[in-house]
Amino acid sequence: MTTATPDLWHHYGRTRAANDPDVPTKFSWTWDQHTGPGAEILGDLTGAVVADLGAGAARHAAHLAVHHQPTHVDAIDASPAQHAMASGLYAELTPRLHLVHADVVDHLRAHPDTYDVAYAVFGAPDFTDPRVLLPVAARALRSGGRLVFSTLAHYRSGKPAETDVIPADVPAKLPDGSAATLSRWVLQAHVWAKLLKAVGLVDVTVEELPAVDGGPGTLLVTASRHRIAQWSA
Ligand SMILES: C[S@@+](CC[C@H](N)C(=O)[O-])C[C@H]1O[C@@H](n2cnc3c(N)ncnc32)[C@H](O)[C@@H]1O
Repeated sequence: MTTATPDLWHHYGRTRAANDPDVPTKFSWTWDQHTGPGAEILGDLTGAVVADLGAGAARHAAHLAVHHQPTHVDAIDASPAQHAMASGLYAELTPRLHLVHADVVDHLRAHPDTYDVAYAVFGAPDFTDPRVLLPVAARALRSGGRLVFSTLAHYRSGKPAETDVIPADVPAKLPDGSAATLSRWVLQAHVWAKLLKAVGLVDVTVEELPAVDGGPGTLLVTASRHRIAQWSA
């Protein structure tokens, strides 16, 4: 007999989805979702094949599909509730926006050499063992493709990020409202950089974006797959 895993993202973003269903006009990487750089960090997306790793309600992916000209954006999320929310909000943006209900690791493993850009905003890299996720993410990029994600610069309590690749248990809620925990990887900048270089990614940068309004600071992490030279006869 198999037991379904409870959806720890059942409640996330529900109020906003009900009150603010429009495609966002801005893209933000930061915790506060108002400040800092935007989609320009991803480069020119014209014609690009893009993946959002842990898209939630797919707001960022919807913004890219509407305000940029990618071939398509795959908004990937494992949570049944988040996938349903994204479908309710943005299904009409198909085929430029493709809502994928899957674990990111499984999806990326099945799609090597596929993406020009893979990104996440406090998404799968925060909640998935990076030693499992980053190798498949690197492999899923095309030659010269870019991985960009935002993640916590430190714990929400203010406690410093980890100096080793270890997750913490953070509070979550079961669909019935009772308390649970999930694993979150809150790592220092140099730890992320080392992990990315270890999977063969190049041009690794990790920038700390300042906290505002008492919220936590954000790390903005970028890396690229080595460009494979094209030889012509
Ligand atoms: C904090 S939410 C952020 C959602 C969205 N990026 C946003 O900014 O609103 C994290 C999301 O990542 C998803 N997630 C975490 N790990 C995942 C994985 N390995 N595969 C697919 N989705 C994942 C969760 O289901 C959740 O919807």
